[in-house]
Amino acid sequence: MQIAVNILILLDFCAMTTLHTKEELQTLLGPEKQNQKCIGFVPTMGALHQGHLTLVSRALKECDHVVVSIFVNPTQFNNAEDLAKYPRHLDHDLTLLSSLSKSILVFAPSAENIYGNQISARQYDFGALGQHMEGQHRPGHFDGVATVVSLLFDAVNPDRAYFGEKDYQQLRIVETLVQIEQRDTVIVPCSIARNSEGLALSSRNERLDDKQLKQALLLAGVLNEASKNFSTHSFQAIKNEAAAAFKKAPEFELEYFEIADVDSLVPTLTKDPEKKYRAFIAAQLGGVRLIDNLELN
Ligand code: PAF
Repeated sequence: MQIAVNILILLDFCAMTTLHTKEELQTLLGPEKQNQKCIGFVPTMGALHQGHLTLVSRALKECDHVVVSIFVNPTQFNNAEDLAKYPRHLDHDLTLLSSLSKSILVFAPSAENIYGNQISARQYDFGALGQHMEGQHRPGHFDGVATVVSLLFDAVNPDRAYFGEKDYQQLRIVETLVQIEQRDTVIVPCSIARNSEGLALSSRNERLDDKQLKQALLLAGVLNEASKNFSTHSFQAIKNEAAAAFKKAPEFELEYFEIADVDSLVPTLTKDPEKKYRAFIAAQLGGVRLIDNLELN
């Protein structure tokens, strides 16, 4: 045990550490956990951007040790092309992370190390939470996300895990997963990071050219318009305006624009003054799938 603690202290002074197996990770972190150290965890699929770095910076402030996983999870992709084209550049990711802190433990496992020899998703029942929007348009996606998050949580055993609100439905699914599996990990929601023009940061933005990056601002534009009209317009009128804006932009294929209360995440056309709402959007631009959402108030 003392050896593992000493290794961790030593690692703080060296280049950042990348571990490839959960066994190595557990050897290093197990004793720290026993010593009541707070383990923070930021799960990612790599292709890191400022949004990820914001999560990692927060974890570094709030925890004794921070693990960042980089693993493109095959079971959460319901589209083989999307999986094949998902950006991967570990070296660049490591450079970005080491610019924040050399003490970060990077966990970059193989699919076999995470899943064993059966790379498949478990079946979960998240009720209505998983049935609409992403759940409807990406069948099986949340089973894949929940499976890998559960397996990663087994490997890291984090006290706190950081998730961005850009994947708001995913965040709510993970909160529910933690309840179902009776884990004591605290899920820390982090607000959406946007570029100076308002585009939500996403690894998929890398696949957009300069013209498309400008066009992609339509998502945030439509959400902001929805927020502006929230107190004066009906939900149906807000939805109609969103649909009309996308009709004028044929480069997009709108998958959905929905308004849902933040608890149930069931899309609705009826406003209850007691509830809080967010607007959610998913659209394809040149074969790249983009999502965004915004609190309405
Ligand atoms: O949000 C992501 O990047 C992924 O869905 C996650 C949580 C890392 C699971 O693969």
